[in-house]
Amino acid sequence: MEIARIIAELRRQIGVWRKAGESVGLVPTMGALHEGHMALARAARAECGRVVASIFVNPKQFAPSEDLTSYPRREAPDLAMLASAGVDLAFVPSVDEIYPAGFATVVSVTGLTDVLCGAHRAGHLDGVATVVTKLLLQSLPDAVYFGEKDYQQLLVIRRLVADLDIPVRIVGVPTVRQADGLALSSRNAYLSPEERRIAPNLARVLQSIADAVAMQPKAVAAELARGVGELQSAGFEVEYLEIRGAETLAPTSDEVTAPSRVFVAARLGGTRLIDNMPIA
Ligand code: PAJ
Repeated sequence: MEIARIIAELRRQIGVWRKAGESVGLVPTMGALHEGHMALARAARAECGRVVASIFVNPKQFAPSEDLTSYPRREAPDLAMLASAGVDLAFVPSVDEIYPAGFATVVSVTGLTDVLCGAHRAGHLDGVATVVTKLLLQSLPDAVYFGEKDYQQLLVIRRLVADLDIPVRIVGVPTVRQADGLALSSRNAYLSPEERRIAPNLARVLQSIADAVAMQPKAVAAELARGVGELQSAGFEVEYLEIRGAETLAPTSDEVTAPSRVFVAARLGGTRLIDNMPIA
């Protein structure tokens, strides 16, 4: 596996593959890799001639009060995991390489970013949109892979790619979970053993709401109220628990009609966890 730390080297290597007629897939990550990231890498490996994965803890998507400095960084094991998944090139830029002095541009998707995590993490989705736009323009891949775990992020990227006419296919990959249902996340490493024991309640409650509302589309309000109560009793501080349209994130307050998902963000001790599931 090649490692590129500067944009010019990334472009040079991709240029060689392009000349040889090979397709290129991109897997953007912030490192601290786990099986969720590996599912993206494997999907890219199955579909593309060459696979590039980026590791960049993007300061612009962390608010000043958030965990930028404590976010787990473990480059050597990450690189070993990417190599074993058949990734051809790891792009591991410095902050200065991505945001040199004078950097002044923000990519901001309106509408979709006003709700859910966008409403609770000021600037977060602008930071994501800005860095993903840069990664796409740096590598110009045929396909780019994102997890449904961060479903709002996936929709924001779909929107910006359509709006900015970036010629790339976006692939959404289903959430990878542990056996007890907990969605894999780099932030799970922050959980104490006791919190780790409680954490699967998040997925359990989401699944029970999704099942109940699929049977009774008018039970939205009652099910969400039940869910908040169960999460609070389990020890979570609920930031949001909502059912929204799967394409538009339009709110569903009484009855589910269009394809929808249930979305949650909740804190367990100091750790903020998110998850979402489709309503079948
Ligand atoms: P990160 O949290 O490292 O996630 C990288 C990619 O892995 C994202 O597309 C995310 O949705 C996906 N992912 C994380 N956990 C997953 C799971 N359990 N199952 C399936 N996919 C999962 O998301 C980011 O980084 C950043 O915002 C980024 C897009 C790299 C921009 O900085």
